[in-house]
Amino acid sequence: MYELHHPTLLHRPIPHEISFLTLFITLQGLFFYAMKHCISIAQFSRQDIETLLQKAKDIKLSPQNYSLSLLNSIIAMLFFEPSTRTRLSHESAALRLGARVIGFADSNTTSAKKGETLEDTIRVINGYADAIVMRHPEPGAAQRAATASDIPIINAGDGSNEHPTQALLDLFTIQEKFGTLDGLHITFVGDLKYGRTVHSLIKAFSLFHVSIACVSPSLLKLPDTIKTTDIKEYETWDEVAQTTDVLYMTRVQEERFDDKEEYNQLKENYILTSQEAEKFSAKTIFMHPLPRVVELSPDIDSDPRAWYFKQAHNGVWMRMAILLHILS
Ligand code: NCD
Repeated sequence: MYELHHPTLLHRPIPHEISFLTLFITLQGLFFYAMKHCISIAQFSRQDIETLLQKAKDIKLSPQNYSLSLLNSIIAMLFFEPSTRTRLSHESAALRLGARVIGFADSNTTSAKKGETLEDTIRVINGYADAIVMRHPEPGAAQRAATASDIPIINAGDGSNEHPTQALLDLFTIQEKFGTLDGLHITFVGDLKYGRTVHSLIKAFSLFHVSIACVSPSLLKLPDTIKTTDIKEYETWDEVAQTTDVLYMTRVQEERFDDKEEYNQLKENYILTSQEAEKFSAKTIFMHPLPRVVELSPDIDSDPRAWYFKQAHNGVWMRMAILLHILS
């Protein structure tokens, strides 16, 4: 017995196959480590994004192949701010992977209302779930949650800061249409100051070769922290309409305004009607993270270039890919 377990018996060179295997596992581990939380789109490399896009494509083609992938997982949905698409598409994604879901959609019914800190809520839910999808009105809340959490945090929107999973599903939708993310002309319109989906998507596009035009009222321009020198700003879309591949419309974010009068003056600056849509070429697609208020006229819903409902549906496939990468 002693001889069999004597340490000297273990003193032999590690075979090459084991070193390669170890290296492979370490590299995979690095990717998963980087993916532990999903807080900002800036944490992803182009390679990470391409891997997720490919995974989402495979899932969309054969979702039944993934129905048992997260059978024993519990995902918590913590929504401190209103949501329809983001919460329900994450829930649908979790359920389609075989996971179970707990959470809340109204923080007024939780201990946050009694004064519990975000950090304490996160620490407690660490004992109830395997990952947390969280939306919160404060910029930086997702990072705070990650700092307090041993389980993965997925940022489902933190104030006007970021919305990384939306950016990934937007990229997926654009790639589905054009087959590539390079060489495209993207035009962002509306509330580029508070629109977190725009912030994340513009950061993601910095990894690709695209040309970006921003159309907004001067009070709602892209923040300097996100603007790069090659982004061009316009007051109307007329100059760029003919060359635009993706017209990305946004809602003026009423909930971020202290001055409601200012909101009322800005909310109807850009409205895509069927008449305005004629300025864009046949290859353009119209996107919008939704919900729309007035900026997308319902009369373009039947236009084949209207891609916003397809975009919303793609959220499920991309969020399945993200949950799988983080949890499997
Ligand atoms: C967006 C959001 O919450 O930032 N919606 C969404 O997640 N699809 C856009 C918006 O609310 O205007």
